[in-house]
Amino acid sequence: MIRSVITGTGSALPANCVTNADLAAKVDTSDEWIVERTGIRQRYIADDSETTSSLATVAARNALDAAGIDAGEIGLIVLATATPDHTFPATATQVQAALGCGGGVAFDVQAVCSGFLYALATADSLLRTGLAGKALVIGSETFSRILDWDDRTTCVLFGDGAGAVVLEAQDVAEDGPGILASRLHADGQHKDMLFVDGGPSTTGTVGKLRMKGREVFRHAVVNLADVLKEVLDETGKCAADIDWVVPHQANARILDATARKLELPVEKIVVTVDRHANTSAASVPLALDTAMRDGRIQPGDLVMFEAMGGGFTWGASLVRF
Ligand code: ACO
Repeated sequence: MIRSVITGTGSALPANCVTNADLAAKVDTSDEWIVERTGIRQRYIADDSETTSSLATVAARNALDAAGIDAGEIGLIVLATATPDHTFPATATQVQAALGCGGGVAFDVQAVCSGFLYALATADSLLRTGLAGKALVIGSETFSRILDWDDRTTCVLFGDGAGAVVLEAQDVAEDGPGILASRLHADGQHKDMLFVDGGPSTTGTVGKLRMKGREVFRHAVVNLADVLKEVLDETGKCAADIDWVVPHQANARILDATARKLELPVEKIVVTVDRHANTSAASVPLALDTAMRDGRIQPGDLVMFEAMGGGFTWGASLVRF
């Protein structure tokens, strides 16, 4: 059977690491408050020379190296971001040019923190139709550009970064590697709980992120547990079959609450929120690359990705490595 197989991962972080103590020097907050409520200890913040496309390009190069393939073999780039370099062209096309891919299909997907899950499911579908043989799926964000640094309830939560995977259509056995199932959801009724108060068609400005944190927290735990169960049911697997969960890294308490709901041991959850904070669409591939490079995820492992974000949008994918 033809499946989309992850054959390489990569990531990139800005050079500038900002600790909670650094933030507390400028914002009315404290390391203790941030760690207790979120688990975040530091985040990376892009300088003027670092953009969503430049971070994405480095992450993509690292993923290509890990997969052992040339940029010229890539026929499809799907890039998830809510912080593109420009309103258009798509940031994916800038990455395509920087990598020297020389053709194929490239476009952006916008589902905020669930963006990587949406991009992965989209690329998986397109590969299985035969549109391309090899794809790059990238999540890249510079959320620092849309934060209100006077709003302590949001500015302490986010960071910048990028992660990428190489996805290849391969003929594999039933118990072989690849994306086994993906489920995506959206519910546009809750826009006011998490949104950016600007845009080209409304204010003509870029705008700043606004969030009702408590309500987002409540919806996140319920929606994530539901979508994880859906994917397990669809594939005939149970929580005990999962080797690793690579979740969207919003908040350590959301990760703990979701794990408890599913009766998943916390040791199986890949956590990077302490080092990266919430990097929106970049967080799942950044965490994945961390767990691939430190040797936690091994060939044959069954890995669940999950994310929830503005919209609301949410989703999960079950992948065999
Ligand atoms: N430093 C110090 N004090 C703060 C800070 C801060 N950075 N931010 C808020 N406070 C204060 C508030 O003013 C409030 O003070 P008060 O009691 O005197 O009014 C107090 O802390 C409690 O505020 P709450 O907002 O009720 O705090 P809560 O326990 O809900 O934690 C948080 C806030 C961390 C945002 C939490 O609601 C949360 O994690 N929500 C999920 C949001 C999220 O992760 N969003 C990411 C995008 S969506 C996604 O990725 C899933």
